Amino acid sequence: MTLARDRVRVVVLISGSGSNLQALINASKLIDCSYEIVLVISNRPDAYGLKRAIDAGIEQATLDHKAYQDRDSFEMALSECIDRATPDFIVCAGFMRVFTEAFVTRYAGRIVNIHPSLLPSFRGLNTYARALDAGVAFVGCSVHWVSAGVDEGAIIGQAIVAVVPGDKPNDLAARVLVQEHLLYPICLNLIASRRAIVRDGRNFLDGKPGAIALTGHLNDAT
Ligand code: GRF
Repeated sequence: MTLARDRVRVVVLISGSGSNLQALINASKLIDCSYEIVLVISNRPDAYGLKRAIDAGIEQATLDHKAYQDRDSFEMALSECIDRATPDFIVCAGFMRVFTEAFVTRYAGRIVNIHPSLLPSFRGLNTYARALDAGVAFVGCSVHWVSAGVDEGAIIGQAIVAVVPGDKPNDLAARVLVQEHLLYPICLNLIASRRAIVRDGRNFLDGKPGAIALTGHLNDAT
């Protein structure tokens, strides 16, 4: 049995609804979970995810980026807040700020993100509209290490969802979000147990280069 004090300490960064945060909270209550969430930080005071943290009894903080003169001063305050919680890992879950290279370097190998596309396709915003325009048959989500390039870090895991005729961006977003909630806790447990590590810009899973795939739900769309 894993005791709470053995668990890896995680700070979660959010900007909005926090449904991924909720999935991570729910998974953290399982007895064999390898991580505990010690702090949730939002850059938006109105983020619903803050209420999720309060309801779960997790410490939370708001750092409104608009209150800072520039990105450097915001990130300085953010890293001070993060470091006070002495986390092992920093988990971005719908955190809508782009990091400077200095920030990413400071937390190299300790910071991860979830992105709603099958990377390296469709980095950035509006992933579903662009995927539909491109006529792809599959969309999905990726959990990846954060590197200096936006949505460019090594992939830890991906989940795929089939596109069906008539799908609109919102249909895809809803189906992929269900998979995000499954994928992120799995990946975070792999990271926290050191089964997934990043080395030389590649993800290693149990010592071999590669990423985990979630594919068991493809019939959901049909
Ligand atoms: C998710 O789709 C995530 O992939 C993206 O932002 C959304 C956040 O949703 N980066 P939530 O705040 O976790 O509900």
